Amino acid sequence: MALAIRTHEQPQNLEQQALRDEALRGFAASPKAMSPKFFYDHRGSQLFELICQQPEYYPTRTEETILRLAADAIAELAGRNASLVELGSGASRKIRLLLEALRPARYLGIDISREFLDICTRRLAADYRWLDVHALCADFSQPLKLPAEALGQRPLAFFPGSSIGNFDPIEARAFLRNLHQALPAGSGLLIGVDLVKNRQVLERAYNDAAGVTALFNLNLLERIRTELDSDIDPQRFEHRAFYNEQASRIEMHLVSREKQQVRIEDRVFDFAAGETLHTENSYKYTPGTFRALASECGFASVAMWRDPAQLFSVHFLRRE
Ligand code: AVJ
Repeated sequence: MALAIRTHEQPQNLEQQALRDEALRGFAASPKAMSPKFFYDHRGSQLFELICQQPEYYPTRTEETILRLAADAIAELAGRNASLVELGSGASRKIRLLLEALRPARYLGIDISREFLDICTRRLAADYRWLDVHALCADFSQPLKLPAEALGQRPLAFFPGSSIGNFDPIEARAFLRNLHQALPAGSGLLIGVDLVKNRQVLERAYNDAAGVTALFNLNLLERIRTELDSDIDPQRFEHRAFYNEQASRIEMHLVSREKQQVRIEDRVFDFAAGETLHTENSYKYTPGTFRALASECGFASVAMWRDPAQLFSVHFLRRE
């Protein structure tokens, strides 16, 4: 196929106004909170790739092992000439584990970070010359309109990494229902889901010794400092991540090291010493709680794979 990728535009104002609106909204809220999708500017996407290489961050390498071992079974379920649609394609690295087994007719990468999406889908097109590569810059937490020419006959949506964990249960349902609407009946959904487990393993994964997750979290404030008119000083905040067992989720926060005021445009926000800005939730599921959620939204369980230590799961679901 061609080196040229086909890019599809989504009429959404992602990168300029959105960060400003979210920061003003989130700093005024109580408790203060921002959506984790704002982590992913170019540097944030790079830092996330680095997180994936940290020894404590088990999800990436575990999911990759599962995908490698299950690739033939997945290809069998997906059928020939599938159209792969990847949600949050990031570096488009995991999809490579499936391409040879699947031999899909086309690939559509969807990501919120335009520059990152461009670079990574171009690289994919260069490495797999037989593959028809499409790119769509979009925020998939919003209703999705998938370009028909990228969908083909047999869509297989791929949503790896337990990105679904960023959504709370209500948002996760809304997301799956959106996806249900965007895909024709019979489509596959291959989705990576992190599992409930021992607190220590979970908390280590979000507090790596090299401090990469801390940098990733603090990069949100760096974005506010550089992209908005703000006097915020990231050095006056620190990273915190812990498992909230009641809610089955890791929470990430940025903790104010001291009592301070932060200005964004003409608004001033007070932080008490120790007050936090809640930046991310990462929900963990059991195979059963995830299947129940999916089935409520019109996706039936077809198969599931786990690693022997049961750290991570990959589900194959069928859109009914
Ligand atoms: C991309 C949402 C799956 O929750 O594990 C990694 C993001 N945050 N370390 C996750 C993340 C901190 C990641 N997801």
